[in-house]
Amino acid sequence: MADTYNIGIAGLGTVGVGVIDILNRHGDLLAKRAGRPVAVRAVSARDRHRDRGVDISGYDWCDDPVALARRDDLDLIVELIGGSDGPALALAQACLEGGRAFVTANKALMAYHGADLAVLADRMDAPLAYEAAVAGGIPVIKALKEGLAGNEISHISGILNGTCNYILTKMEEDRRDFGDVLAEAQQLGYAEADPTFDIDGHDSAHKAVILAMLAFHAVPAVDTAPVVGIRALDTVDIDYARELGYKIKLLGTARRTEDGIEVCVHPAMVPLDHALAGVRDATNAVMIQGDAVGETVYIGPGAGRGPTASAVVGDIIDIVRGHTSPALGRAAHDLPAMVPLDDAQRFANFYIRLRVNDAVGVVAEVAQLLSDADVSIDGLLQRGRAAKGGVYLVITTHATTEARAADVVAALDKLDNILEPPALLRIEA
Ligand SMILES: NC(=O)c1ccc[n+]([C@@H]2O[C@H](COP(=O)([O-])OP(=O)(O)OC[C@H]3O[C@@H](n4cnc5c(N)ncnc54)[C@H](OP(=O)(O)O)[C@@H]3O)[C@@H](O)[C@H]2O)c1
Repeated sequence: MADTYNIGIAGLGTVGVGVIDILNRHGDLLAKRAGRPVAVRAVSARDRHRDRGVDISGYDWCDDPVALARRDDLDLIVELIGGSDGPALALAQACLEGGRAFVTANKALMAYHGADLAVLADRMDAPLAYEAAVAGGIPVIKALKEGLAGNEISHISGILNGTCNYILTKMEEDRRDFGDVLAEAQQLGYAEADPTFDIDGHDSAHKAVILAMLAFHAVPAVDTAPVVGIRALDTVDIDYARELGYKIKLLGTARRTEDGIEVCVHPAMVPLDHALAGVRDATNAVMIQGDAVGETVYIGPGAGRGPTASAVVGDIIDIVRGHTSPALGRAAHDLPAMVPLDDAQRFANFYIRLRVNDAVGVVAEVAQLLSDADVSIDGLLQRGRAAKGGVYLVITTHATTEARAADVVAALDKLDNILEPPALLRIEA
Protein backbone atom coordinates (compact mmCIF):
# COMPACT_ATOMS: atom_id res chain seq x y z
CA MET A 1 0.00 0.00 0.00
CA ALA A 2 1.21 3.53 -0.75
CA ASP A 3 2.56 5.94 1.87
CA THR A 4 0.34 7.38 4.55
CA TYR A 5 -1.66 10.44 3.53
CA ASN A 6 -1.30 13.07 6.24
CA ILE A 7 -3.97 15.54 7.21
CA GLY A 8 -4.28 18.49 9.57
CA ILE A 9 -7.55 19.49 11.22
CA ALA A 10 -8.37 23.03 12.35
CA GLY A 11 -11.33 23.06 14.71
CA LEU A 12 -12.04 20.27 17.18
CA GLY A 13 -15.66 20.98 18.03
CA THR A 14 -18.75 19.00 17.05
CA VAL A 15 -17.60 18.21 13.50
CA GLY A 16 -13.82 18.08 14.08
CA VAL A 17 -14.17 15.44 16.78
CA GLY A 18 -16.63 13.56 14.55
CA VAL A 19 -14.04 13.42 11.76
CA ILE A 20 -11.35 12.12 14.13
CA ASP A 21 -13.79 9.54 15.43
CA ILE A 22 -14.60 8.19 11.93
CA LEU A 23 -10.91 8.13 10.93
CA ASN A 24 -10.13 6.20 14.15
CA ARG A 25 -13.01 3.74 13.90
CA HIS A 26 -12.76 3.01 10.19
CA GLY A 27 -9.00 3.33 9.65
CA ASP A 28 -8.57 0.00 7.86
CA LEU A 29 -11.71 0.31 5.78
CA LEU A 30 -10.84 3.85 4.71
CA ALA A 31 -7.26 2.84 3.84
CA LYS A 32 -8.63 0.16 1.52
CA ARG A 33 -11.11 2.54 -0.05
CA ALA A 34 -8.58 5.35 -0.45
CA GLY A 35 -5.75 3.08 -1.54
CA ARG A 36 -3.48 4.28 1.28
CA PRO A 37 -3.73 4.91 5.02
CA VAL A 38 -5.06 8.30 6.10
CA ALA A 39 -3.69 9.74 9.35
CA VAL A 40 -4.23 12.91 11.32
CA ARG A 41 -0.81 14.51 11.94
CA ALA A 42 -1.60 17.92 13.41
CA VAL A 43 -4.56 19.76 14.88
CA SER A 44 -5.53 23.27 15.96
CA ALA A 45 -8.23 24.70 18.20
CA ARG A 46 -8.40 27.46 20.79
CA ASP A 47 -8.07 25.50 24.02
CA ARG A 48 -5.29 22.95 24.05
CA HIS A 49 -6.36 21.45 27.36
CA ARG A 50 -10.07 20.92 26.76
CA ASP A 51 -11.23 17.32 27.09
CA ARG A 52 -12.78 16.57 23.71
CA GLY A 53 -13.70 12.95 24.32
CA VAL A 54 -11.10 11.74 21.80
CA ASP A 55 -7.39 11.24 22.32
CA ILE A 56 -5.47 13.99 20.51
CA SER A 57 -2.17 13.45 22.36
CA GLY A 58 -0.61 11.77 19.31
CA TYR A 59 -1.12 14.81 17.07
CA ASP A 60 1.05 17.93 16.85
CA TRP A 61 -0.74 20.94 18.29
CA CYS A 62 -0.78 24.35 16.55
CA ASP A 63 -2.10 27.35 18.45
CA ASP A 64 -2.47 29.20 15.16
CA PRO A 65 -4.61 27.28 12.63
CA VAL A 66 -2.91 29.05 9.71
CA ALA A 67 0.37 27.46 10.83
CA LEU A 68 -1.05 24.15 9.57
CA ALA A 69 -0.76 25.51 6.02
CA ARG A 70 2.94 26.19 6.52
CA ARG A 71 3.80 22.59 7.44
CA ASP A 72 5.43 20.53 4.71
CA ASP A 73 4.31 17.22 6.19
CA LEU A 74 0.58 17.73 5.56
CA ASP A 75 -1.10 16.69 2.30
CA LEU A 76 -4.54 18.09 3.12
CA ILE A 77 -6.07 20.49 5.63
CA VAL A 78 -9.59 20.33 6.99
CA GLU A 79 -11.14 23.57 8.24
CA LEU A 80 -13.87 23.07 10.87
CA ILE A 81 -13.68 26.37 12.73
CA GLY A 82 -16.54 28.28 11.10
CA GLY A 83 -17.17 31.93 10.18
CA SER A 84 -16.95 33.58 6.78
CA ASP A 85 -13.72 35.45 7.52
CA GLY A 86 -11.07 35.37 10.25
CA PRO A 87 -8.97 32.22 10.71
CA ALA A 88 -11.16 30.09 8.42
CA LEU A 89 -10.58 32.36 5.41
CA ALA A 90 -6.91 32.94 6.24
CA LEU A 91 -6.36 29.19 6.47
CA ALA A 92 -8.23 28.48 3.23
CA GLN A 93 -6.18 31.07 1.35
CA ALA A 94 -2.84 29.97 2.81
CA CYS A 95 -3.61 26.34 2.16
CA LEU A 96 -4.70 26.77 -1.47
CA GLU A 97 -1.93 29.30 -2.23
CA GLY A 98 0.49 26.60 -1.15
CA GLY A 99 -1.17 24.18 -3.62
CA ARG A 100 -2.48 22.05 -0.75
CA ALA A 101 -5.84 20.23 -0.72
CA PHE A 102 -8.49 21.97 1.40
CA VAL A 103 -11.72 20.51 2.82
CA THR A 104 -14.29 22.53 4.74
CA ALA A 105 -17.80 22.24 6.17
CA ASN A 106 -18.09 26.02 6.34
CA LYS A 107 -21.12 27.34 4.43
CA ALA A 108 -20.53 30.97 5.39
CA LEU A 109 -16.97 30.80 4.04
CA MET A 110 -18.12 29.16 0.80
CA ALA A 111 -21.13 31.47 0.31
CA TYR A 112 -19.05 34.64 0.68
CA HIS A 113 -15.66 33.54 -0.66
CA GLY A 114 -16.32 30.26 -2.49
CA ALA A 115 -15.98 31.79 -5.95
CA ASP A 116 -12.62 33.44 -5.14
CA LEU A 117 -11.35 30.32 -3.39
CA ALA A 118 -12.39 28.22 -6.40
CA VAL A 119 -10.37 30.52 -8.71
CA LEU A 120 -7.37 30.14 -6.40
CA ALA A 121 -7.84 26.37 -6.23
CA ASP A 122 -8.03 26.14 -10.05
CA ARG A 123 -4.90 28.30 -10.43
CA MET A 124 -2.89 26.31 -7.92
CA ASP A 125 -4.34 22.98 -9.07
CA ALA A 126 -5.32 22.33 -5.45
CA PRO A 127 -8.48 20.35 -4.61
CA LEU A 128 -11.18 22.33 -2.77
CA ALA A 129 -14.10 20.31 -1.37
CA TYR A 130 -17.06 21.37 0.78
CA GLU A 131 -19.73 18.64 0.65
CA ALA A 132 -20.64 19.15 4.31
CA ALA A 133 -21.40 22.85 3.78
CA VAL A 134 -24.86 22.14 2.29
CA ALA A 135 -27.35 19.71 3.80
CA GLY A 136 -24.75 18.06 6.06
CA GLY A 137 -24.71 14.33 5.43
CA ILE A 138 -26.59 14.40 2.11
CA PRO A 139 -24.18 14.27 -0.86
CA VAL A 140 -25.94 16.98 -2.81
CA ILE A 141 -22.82 18.90 -3.94
CA LYS A 142 -21.52 15.70 -5.48
CA ALA A 143 -24.90 15.09 -7.12
CA LEU A 144 -24.83 18.52 -8.77
CA LYS A 145 -21.16 18.44 -9.77
CA GLU A 146 -20.99 14.85 -10.94
CA GLY A 147 -24.14 12.74 -11.26
CA LEU A 148 -26.20 15.55 -12.78
CA ALA A 149 -23.38 17.11 -14.84
CA GLY A 150 -25.20 16.23 -18.07
CA ASN A 151 -28.19 18.40 -17.19
CA GLU A 152 -29.15 22.01 -17.52
CA ILE A 153 -30.54 22.71 -14.06
CA SER A 154 -33.71 24.79 -13.93
CA HIS A 155 -34.73 24.73 -10.29
CA ILE A 156 -33.41 23.76 -6.87
CA SER A 157 -35.55 23.98 -3.79
CA GLY A 158 -34.54 22.71 -0.40
CA ILE A 159 -35.31 22.39 3.26
CA LEU A 160 -31.81 23.45 4.22
CA ASN A 161 -32.07 24.22 7.92
CA GLY A 162 -32.93 21.43 10.34
CA THR A 163 -33.70 23.78 13.25
CA CYS A 164 -36.39 25.58 11.27
CA ASN A 165 -37.90 22.36 9.97
CA TYR A 166 -37.98 20.96 13.50
CA ILE A 167 -39.79 24.07 14.77
CA LEU A 168 -42.28 24.07 11.88
CA THR A 169 -42.99 20.35 12.37
CA LYS A 170 -43.69 20.83 16.08
CA MET A 171 -45.82 23.94 15.45
CA GLU A 172 -47.91 21.96 12.99
CA GLU A 173 -48.15 18.58 14.71
CA ASP A 174 -48.49 19.80 18.31
CA ARG A 175 -50.32 23.05 17.43
CA ARG A 176 -47.89 25.09 19.52
CA ASP A 177 -46.63 28.66 19.10
CA PHE A 178 -43.29 29.52 17.54
CA GLY A 179 -41.78 30.92 20.79
CA ASP A 180 -42.80 27.88 22.80
CA VAL A 181 -41.31 25.39 20.33
CA LEU A 182 -38.14 27.46 19.92
CA ALA A 183 -37.56 27.42 23.70
CA GLU A 184 -37.96 23.64 23.71
CA ALA A 185 -35.62 23.24 20.70
CA GLN A 186 -32.99 25.26 22.57
CA GLN A 187 -33.36 23.06 25.64
CA LEU A 188 -32.96 19.92 23.53
CA GLY A 189 -29.90 21.34 21.77
CA TYR A 190 -31.61 21.51 18.33
CA ALA A 191 -31.39 25.31 18.33
CA GLU A 192 -28.47 27.54 19.26
CA ALA A 193 -28.63 29.84 22.31
CA ASP A 194 -28.69 32.65 19.71
CA PRO A 195 -30.93 31.11 17.04
CA THR A 196 -31.12 34.25 14.86
CA PHE A 197 -28.92 32.90 12.13
CA ASP A 198 -31.08 29.83 11.65
CA ILE A 199 -34.60 31.10 12.20
CA ASP A 200 -34.17 34.33 10.24
CA GLY A 201 -33.10 32.31 7.20
CA HIS A 202 -29.44 33.34 6.85
CA ASP A 203 -28.06 29.82 7.22
CA SER A 204 -30.43 28.62 4.48
CA ALA A 205 -29.41 31.58 2.33
CA HIS A 206 -25.73 30.63 2.49
CA LYS A 207 -26.60 27.13 1.32
CA ALA A 208 -28.94 28.37 -1.43
CA VAL A 209 -26.17 30.66 -2.70
CA ILE A 210 -23.71 27.75 -2.86
CA LEU A 211 -26.23 25.58 -4.72
CA ALA A 212 -26.95 28.45 -7.14
CA MET A 213 -23.22 28.90 -7.90
CA LEU A 214 -22.91 25.21 -8.68
CA ALA A 215 -26.08 24.87 -10.70
CA PHE A 216 -26.00 28.10 -12.68
CA HIS A 217 -22.26 28.93 -12.83
CA ALA A 218 -22.71 32.51 -11.74
CA VAL A 219 -21.88 34.17 -8.45
CA PRO A 220 -24.76 35.59 -6.38
CA ALA A 221 -24.08 38.39 -3.91
CA VAL A 222 -25.08 36.81 -0.60
CA ASP A 223 -26.49 39.97 0.90
CA THR A 224 -28.79 40.83 -2.00
CA ALA A 225 -30.80 37.59 -1.87
CA PRO A 226 -34.28 38.18 -0.40
CA VAL A 227 -34.41 36.27 2.89
CA VAL A 228 -37.44 35.79 5.13
CA GLY A 229 -37.31 33.47 8.14
CA ILE A 230 -39.97 31.77 10.23
CA ARG A 231 -40.09 34.10 13.25
CA ALA A 232 -43.35 35.80 12.25
CA LEU A 233 -45.28 32.62 11.44
CA ASP A 234 -48.57 32.18 13.25
CA THR A 235 -50.13 28.78 13.99
CA VAL A 236 -53.31 30.14 12.40
CA ASP A 237 -51.52 30.10 9.05
CA ILE A 238 -50.27 26.58 9.62
CA ASP A 239 -53.87 25.51 10.29
CA TYR A 240 -55.15 27.24 7.15
CA ALA A 241 -52.30 25.75 5.14
CA ARG A 242 -53.43 22.29 6.20
CA GLU A 243 -57.05 23.09 5.35
CA LEU A 244 -56.00 24.26 1.89
CA GLY A 245 -53.83 21.17 1.28
CA TYR A 246 -50.37 22.55 2.08
CA LYS A 247 -47.59 22.40 4.66
CA ILE A 248 -45.48 25.44 5.48
CA LYS A 249 -41.75 24.85 4.95
CA LEU A 250 -38.79 27.22 4.98
CA LEU A 251 -37.38 26.82 1.46
CA GLY A 252 -34.06 27.90 0.03
CA THR A 253 -34.60 28.32 -3.68
CA ALA A 254 -32.41 28.84 -6.74
CA ARG A 255 -34.36 29.02 -9.98
CA ARG A 256 -33.68 29.91 -13.59
CA THR A 257 -36.35 32.30 -14.90
CA GLU A 258 -36.78 34.23 -18.16
CA ASP A 259 -35.35 37.32 -16.48
CA GLY A 260 -32.39 35.67 -14.76
CA ILE A 261 -31.61 33.57 -11.71
CA GLU A 262 -33.71 33.88 -8.58
CA VAL A 263 -32.05 33.01 -5.27
CA CYS A 264 -34.18 33.45 -2.17
CA VAL A 265 -35.27 32.02 1.17
CA HIS A 266 -38.83 32.21 2.45
CA PRO A 267 -41.47 30.20 4.27
CA ALA A 268 -43.71 28.73 1.58
CA MET A 269 -46.95 26.78 1.33
CA VAL A 270 -45.90 23.45 -0.14
CA PRO A 271 -48.62 21.17 -1.64
CA LEU A 272 -49.09 17.96 0.34
CA ASP A 273 -48.11 15.82 -2.65
CA HIS A 274 -44.84 17.78 -3.17
CA ALA A 275 -41.65 15.82 -2.45
CA LEU A 276 -40.64 18.27 0.30
CA ALA A 277 -43.99 18.36 2.14
CA GLY A 278 -43.48 15.15 4.13
CA VAL A 279 -39.98 16.01 5.37
CA ARG A 280 -40.27 16.19 9.16
CA ASP A 281 -38.26 17.30 12.18
CA ALA A 282 -34.59 18.21 11.67
CA THR A 283 -34.29 16.33 8.36
CA ASN A 284 -33.04 18.23 5.29
CA ALA A 285 -34.15 17.65 1.71
CA VAL A 286 -33.13 19.07 -1.64
CA MET A 287 -35.14 18.84 -4.86
CA ILE A 288 -33.17 19.38 -8.07
CA GLN A 289 -34.82 19.69 -11.46
CA GLY A 290 -32.67 18.91 -14.50
CA ASP A 291 -33.74 18.97 -18.15
CA ALA A 292 -32.64 15.41 -18.90
CA VAL A 293 -33.23 13.68 -15.57
CA GLY A 294 -36.40 15.48 -14.45
CA GLU A 295 -36.94 15.87 -10.71
CA THR A 296 -34.54 14.26 -8.24
CA VAL A 297 -34.84 14.49 -4.46
CA TYR A 298 -32.21 13.96 -1.76
CA ILE A 299 -33.27 13.50 1.84
CA GLY A 300 -31.32 12.92 5.05
CA PRO A 301 -29.73 14.40 8.15
CA GLY A 302 -28.52 17.92 7.46
CA ALA A 303 -26.41 18.48 10.56
CA GLY A 304 -24.93 16.88 13.65
CA ARG A 305 -21.61 15.25 14.42
CA GLY A 306 -21.94 11.97 12.50
CA PRO A 307 -23.69 13.19 9.32
CA THR A 308 -21.47 16.25 8.88
CA ALA A 309 -18.27 14.32 9.60
CA SER A 310 -19.47 11.64 7.14
CA ALA A 311 -19.51 14.26 4.36
CA VAL A 312 -16.10 15.65 5.38
CA VAL A 313 -14.51 12.19 5.37
CA GLY A 314 -16.13 11.46 1.99
CA ASP A 315 -14.37 14.54 0.60
CA ILE A 316 -11.05 13.46 2.14
CA ILE A 317 -11.31 9.98 0.60
CA ASP A 318 -12.14 11.43 -2.83
CA ILE A 319 -9.03 13.61 -2.71
CA VAL A 320 -6.77 10.81 -1.48
CA ARG A 321 -8.00 8.69 -4.39
CA GLY A 322 -7.12 11.52 -6.75
CA HIS A 323 -10.77 11.81 -7.68
CA THR A 324 -11.40 15.53 -7.75
CA SER A 325 -13.55 17.80 -9.88
CA PRO A 326 -13.46 21.60 -10.24
CA ALA A 327 -14.75 23.20 -7.03
CA LEU A 328 -17.69 24.88 -8.75
CA GLY A 329 -18.22 22.17 -11.36
CA ARG A 330 -16.32 24.10 -14.07
CA ALA A 331 -13.41 26.51 -14.34
CA ALA A 332 -14.16 29.37 -11.97
CA HIS A 333 -12.09 32.26 -13.39
CA ASP A 334 -14.78 33.68 -15.72
CA LEU A 335 -17.95 33.13 -13.71
CA PRO A 336 -20.21 36.19 -14.09
CA ALA A 337 -21.73 37.98 -11.13
CA MET A 338 -25.39 37.02 -10.77
CA VAL A 339 -27.71 40.00 -11.16
CA PRO A 340 -30.43 39.71 -8.50
CA LEU A 341 -34.00 39.83 -9.78
CA ASP A 342 -36.05 42.70 -8.43
CA ASP A 343 -39.49 42.30 -6.85
CA ALA A 344 -41.22 43.02 -10.14
CA GLN A 345 -39.41 40.08 -11.78
CA ARG A 346 -40.15 37.52 -9.10
CA PHE A 347 -43.49 35.73 -9.65
CA ALA A 348 -45.51 33.45 -7.39
CA ASN A 349 -49.00 32.56 -6.27
CA PHE A 350 -49.64 34.01 -2.82
CA TYR A 351 -51.58 33.30 0.34
CA ILE A 352 -52.86 36.38 2.15
CA ARG A 353 -54.49 36.00 5.58
CA LEU A 354 -56.39 38.88 7.13
CA ARG A 355 -58.14 39.35 10.47
CA VAL A 356 -61.02 41.65 9.69
CA ASN A 357 -64.05 43.20 11.32
CA ASP A 358 -67.06 40.93 10.96
CA ALA A 359 -69.08 43.58 9.14
CA VAL A 360 -71.12 43.84 5.97
CA GLY A 361 -69.10 44.90 2.92
CA VAL A 362 -65.63 43.98 4.21
CA VAL A 363 -65.14 41.10 1.78
CA ALA A 364 -66.24 43.30 -1.11
CA GLU A 365 -63.88 46.06 0.03
CA VAL A 366 -60.95 43.63 0.16
CA ALA A 367 -61.83 42.08 -3.21
CA GLN A 368 -62.10 45.53 -4.80
CA LEU A 369 -58.68 46.51 -3.48
CA LEU A 370 -57.11 43.38 -4.96
CA SER A 371 -58.88 43.97 -8.26
CA ASP A 372 -57.65 47.59 -8.37
CA ALA A 373 -54.10 46.32 -7.78
CA ASP A 374 -54.52 43.82 -10.66
CA VAL A 375 -54.04 40.86 -8.31
CA SER A 376 -56.37 38.04 -9.34
CA ILE A 377 -58.07 35.98 -6.60
CA ASP A 378 -57.85 32.20 -6.95
CA GLY A 379 -59.70 31.28 -3.76
CA LEU A 380 -61.31 32.95 -0.76
CA LEU A 381 -62.10 31.39 2.60
CA GLN A 382 -63.80 32.66 5.72
CA ARG A 383 -64.22 30.50 8.83
CA GLY A 384 -65.85 31.19 12.22
CA ARG A 385 -64.64 33.87 14.60
CA ALA A 386 -61.02 34.55 15.53
CA ALA A 387 -60.23 34.08 19.25
CA LYS A 388 -58.66 37.56 19.20
CA GLY A 389 -61.86 39.10 17.77
CA GLY A 390 -63.11 39.62 14.21
CA VAL A 391 -62.91 36.88 11.59
CA TYR A 392 -60.12 35.47 9.47
CA LEU A 393 -60.27 35.96 5.74
CA VAL A 394 -57.91 33.88 3.63
CA ILE A 395 -57.17 34.69 0.01
CA THR A 396 -55.09 32.74 -2.46
CA THR A 397 -54.00 34.56 -5.60
CA HIS A 398 -53.11 33.61 -9.14
CA ALA A 399 -49.49 34.28 -10.13
CA THR A 400 -48.39 37.84 -9.57
CA THR A 401 -45.17 39.62 -8.73
CA GLU A 402 -43.63 39.98 -5.27
CA ALA A 403 -43.89 43.75 -5.78
CA ARG A 404 -47.65 43.66 -6.42
CA ALA A 405 -48.26 41.24 -3.56
CA ALA A 406 -46.29 43.44 -1.16
CA ASP A 407 -48.11 46.59 -2.35
CA VAL A 408 -51.50 45.00 -2.00
CA VAL A 409 -50.73 43.79 1.53
CA ALA A 410 -49.49 47.27 2.48
CA ALA A 411 -52.70 48.78 1.11
CA LEU A 412 -54.88 46.19 2.90
CA ASP A 413 -53.07 46.96 6.15
CA LYS A 414 -54.28 50.57 5.92
CA LEU A 415 -57.99 49.66 5.76
CA ASP A 416 -59.95 50.45 8.93
CA ASN A 417 -61.54 46.99 8.88
CA ILE A 418 -58.19 45.16 9.03
CA LEU A 419 -57.42 44.30 12.68
CA GLU A 420 -53.77 43.16 12.46
CA PRO A 421 -51.00 43.22 9.85
CA PRO A 422 -51.85 40.73 7.07
CA ALA A 423 -49.82 37.52 6.68
CA LEU A 424 -48.29 36.95 3.23
CA LEU A 425 -46.80 33.65 2.10
CA ARG A 426 -45.67 32.30 -1.25
CA ILE A 427 -47.37 29.19 -2.58
CA GLU A 428 -44.94 26.69 -4.09
CA ALA A 429 -46.10 25.28 -7.41
N1 LIG B 1 -22.34 21.23 13.80
C1 LIG B 1 -22.99 20.90 12.69
O1 LIG B 1 -23.95 20.12 12.74
C2 LIG B 1 -22.54 21.42 11.36
C3 LIG B 1 -23.24 21.00 10.19
C4 LIG B 1 -22.79 21.46 8.95
C5 LIG B 1 -21.73 22.33 8.88
N2 LIG B 1 -21.11 22.73 10.04
C6 LIG B 1 -20.00 23.66 9.90
O2 LIG B 1 -18.82 23.04 10.43
C7 LIG B 1 -17.96 24.01 11.00
C8 LIG B 1 -17.65 23.62 12.44
O3 LIG B 1 -18.85 23.53 13.16
P1 LIG B 1 -18.90 22.90 14.65
O4 LIG B 1 -20.35 22.74 14.96
O5 LIG B 1 -17.99 21.76 14.74
O6 LIG B 1 -18.33 24.13 15.48
P2 LIG B 1 -17.87 24.14 17.03
O7 LIG B 1 -18.38 22.93 17.73
O8 LIG B 1 -18.21 25.48 17.56
O9 LIG B 1 -16.28 24.00 16.92
C9 LIG B 1 -15.48 25.03 16.44
C10 LIG B 1 -14.04 24.67 16.71
O10 LIG B 1 -13.24 25.71 16.16
C11 LIG B 1 -12.26 26.06 17.14
N3 LIG B 1 -11.89 27.45 16.95
C12 LIG B 1 -12.67 28.54 17.06
N4 LIG B 1 -11.95 29.65 16.83
C13 LIG B 1 -10.69 29.24 16.58
C14 LIG B 1 -9.49 29.92 16.31
N5 LIG B 1 -9.44 31.25 16.21
N6 LIG B 1 -8.38 29.17 16.11
C15 LIG B 1 -8.41 27.82 16.20
N7 LIG B 1 -9.53 27.14 16.47
C16 LIG B 1 -10.66 27.84 16.66
C17 LIG B 1 -12.89 25.80 18.47
O11 LIG B 1 -11.87 25.62 19.43
P3 LIG B 1 -12.16 25.28 21.00
O12 LIG B 1 -12.87 23.93 20.95
O13 LIG B 1 -10.84 25.18 21.61
O14 LIG B 1 -13.02 26.37 21.50
C18 LIG B 1 -13.70 24.54 18.19
O15 LIG B 1 -12.90 23.41 18.39
C19 LIG B 1 -18.71 25.35 10.86
O16 LIG B 1 -18.30 26.00 9.69
C20 LIG B 1 -20.16 24.92 10.72
O17 LIG B 1 -20.95 25.86 10.01
C21 LIG B 1 -21.48 22.29 11.26
